[in-house]
Amino acid sequence: MSSYFRALRLVNFRNYESATVFFAPGLNVAVGENAQGKTNLLEGISFAISGSSTRTASDSEVVRWGADFARVEGRIARPESDERRIAVGYAPGQKKRITIDGAPERSLADYAAGGAGVRAITFFPDDIRIVKGAPSDRREFLDALLSSLRPAYANAAAEYTKAVQQRNHLLRRIRDGYSSGKTLDTWDRKVAQLGTEVLEGRERALPHLGEHFASSMRDLYGPEKAAVTYSGTATPESYSERLREAQSADVERGTTSVGPHRDDLKLTLGGVDLTVYGSQGQQRLATLGLKFAAREYVRGTVGEDPILLMDDVMSELDERRREYLTEYFLHSAQAVVSTTNLDYFGAGTLGRAKVIRISGGRIESDTTACGNGRSGAAAEFQRTWSQRPDPE
Ligand SMILES: Nc1ncnc2c1ncn2[C@@H]1O[C@H](COP(=O)(O)OP(=O)(O)O)[C@@H](O)[C@H]1O
Ligand SMILES: [Mg+2]
Repeated sequence: MSSYFRALRLVNFRNYESATVFFAPGLNVAVGENAQGKTNLLEGISFAISGSSTRTASDSEVVRWGADFARVEGRIARPESDERRIAVGYAPGQKKRITIDGAPERSLADYAAGGAGVRAITFFPDDIRIVKGAPSDRREFLDALLSSLRPAYANAAAEYTKAVQQRNHLLRRIRDGYSSGKTLDTWDRKVAQLGTEVLEGRERALPHLGEHFASSMRDLYGPEKAAVTYSGTATPESYSERLREAQSADVERGTTSVGPHRDDLKLTLGGVDLTVYGSQGQQRLATLGLKFAAREYVRGTVGEDPILLMDDVMSELDERRREYLTEYFLHSAQAVVSTTNLDYFGAGTLGRAKVIRISGGRIESDTTACGNGRSGAAAEFQRTWSQRPDPE
């Protein structure tokens, strides 16, 4: 058995003033009308696990309007060890406060790489941009995945981004006559070293990701061969040299033309580029295929099943695919799937799932839960839950 997310408490998170919800292993279905808080609930779980939002780069967006902080707390059930208590508090303008079993965790990168005791693979409808959007969307997907496995990768990627920005600044100073060209070599050693580390991390992951993507797409889409390949401006071996070769052209343009910040993932189905030619349906399934590939990759790397947080994933799919997904979720360590329509799941499935009803930022799960609902847990949880809702 794998770890799973057992309980969540949201305080001033999005449209939740204060809400507590329990989850079961296996399938959990969060159901509600539009604009009630389903997406926000999934974002809350992911925020608790990774320490940031997967939906926005601006943390202050998650703070409930009119409130001055947001806090999420979680309980992670782990096989053969004690339940882990995690909490992430955020007040705009202040450093985030993360605790694991009450002890402060100072590094967000360490926390995001498994500190919570469980990892999550998320799917939000907007994620279709990974397939149809810009190269930066695909790089972000890859970087987030690799960072969730290794804090060293997260740090190298962040440092690399900064080093490239500084290099660009220096290039413009050289072009405009404020700096001598000699300083560039020193900088380039740093850029090359960090960039090579990023490229190596990506290069290691790609064959596995490609294999899992192909098999996910066979199940989700059909027999046409799907592939994901790395489309790079340099290899780890050649990067340092390519950077040097590009120096004078880069000075002229005032920007760094080679390196992992320029690279892309190429996604194809039957040899056809999905980003350019994919239909909306193909792009949506390919997004899901990438997420399932990420799940397999995480499982293969850490030996544990990540939990799945899937927002409104059943709509726009035909019945055969909905049935496939239902089985997939029932057989995962844990999946939390939101929907406006319970009919997407058969009665037999709902009997084996926990149903969580959401309305206007309120959550009912214990009394209406089918299957694995744990009554009694709520009282125990309320007793032991932190009484102070403010960030430490
Ligand atoms: N920071 C916030 N504070 C208060 N309400 C918010 C905040 N962010 C989003 N909302 C509101 O939360 C509501 C529910 O959103 P959402 O979870 O996306 O609904 P659903 O997924 O059920 O359709 C929306 O009406 C949105 O305006
Ligand atoms: Mg939604």
